[in-house]
Amino acid sequence: MSIKKIAVLTSGGDAPGMNACIRAVVRAGIYNELEVCGVYRGYQGLIEGDFEAMDARSVSKIIYRGGTILKSARSDDFMTKEGRKKAHQKLVNEKVDALVAIGGDGTFKGADVFSGEFNFPIVGVPGTIDNDLAGTDFTIGFNTALNTALESIDKIRDTAAAHNRLFFVEVMGRDSGRIALWSGVAGGAEEILLPEEKTDIDELVEKLKEGKANRKSSSIVVVAEGDDMGGALKIAEMVKERMSDYETRVTILGHVQRGGNPTCYDRILASRLGVAAVESLVNNKSGVMVGLVNSNIKHTPLSKAIKNNKLLNEELLRVSKILSI
Ligand code: F6P
Repeated sequence: MSIKKIAVLTSGGDAPGMNACIRAVVRAGIYNELEVCGVYRGYQGLIEGDFEAMDARSVSKIIYRGGTILKSARSDDFMTKEGRKKAHQKLVNEKVDALVAIGGDGTFKGADVFSGEFNFPIVGVPGTIDNDLAGTDFTIGFNTALNTALESIDKIRDTAAAHNRLFFVEVMGRDSGRIALWSGVAGGAEEILLPEEKTDIDELVEKLKEGKANRKSSSIVVVAEGDDMGGALKIAEMVKERMSDYETRVTILGHVQRGGNPTCYDRILASRLGVAAVESLVNNKSGVMVGLVNSNIKHTPLSKAIKNNKLLNEELLRVSKILSI
């Protein structure tokens, strides 16, 4: 089928670089002589028919901005068949032939079900700070979030060293430890606690004691929010009970990691993937996520991109353990 009109939306947690991707989709659509419209508030806006026609100027001066001009939402209604039916009807009414969905795991799960139910062409673009999707080395927003986390870890290092303190820094990532692993290695963390590994408090205390014996006057433990011990506050409490002589502080970085101007890497990634998504639809390739593997564009079925299909970088994990002595 030849496609004449596409829609683009952002869904789930926003990620820096989503705007650069919207811009790329809109402009690549126009380049391919398609009509393009934006859908506000992700799948919820789709259900409510919150559409707006977009042209090249609608996406001027957004490549450098964090957040998403189309806004984002997590839609419970889209999880129901009734909600998806409404969404489909709105697309038909608007004469939209295909959809580009920029988001993460939940977005692609929804897209997969929807495209199967209504035989509707959808291409997914990975946009999430968590970097937890298979079929792409990196997701849009991960690099920016990492740099934000790293800047904070570096600053905490200064004050930790000044006071000979032990810091627990909690980073985001839902049930993925990638932000923790990468920012922890780059920030020279003494320990990195990940959901992908079982945390043993006694072992952690042992290592921190070894560090002290090894002339470390301060330490930073980066904790992924999804760690099995229930987060930095709880872990800090358990460590304090076993190591009362080490003055301890906790910093939870939170949503600061989701904002800010995207890095150069995220802008380029978003631009490439946005163009690839449109080209994929023009070539009648849908039901896939476009990603970047070894610097090349790769298409992965939506169902394969989602949850727990992506493996942690074992080599980086090994490096973190070698360097944290
Ligand atoms: O998926 C992105 C993410 O920022 C996760 O890292 C985090 O667990 C979650 O979203 C937070 O969601 P919310 O913004 O709904 O609190």
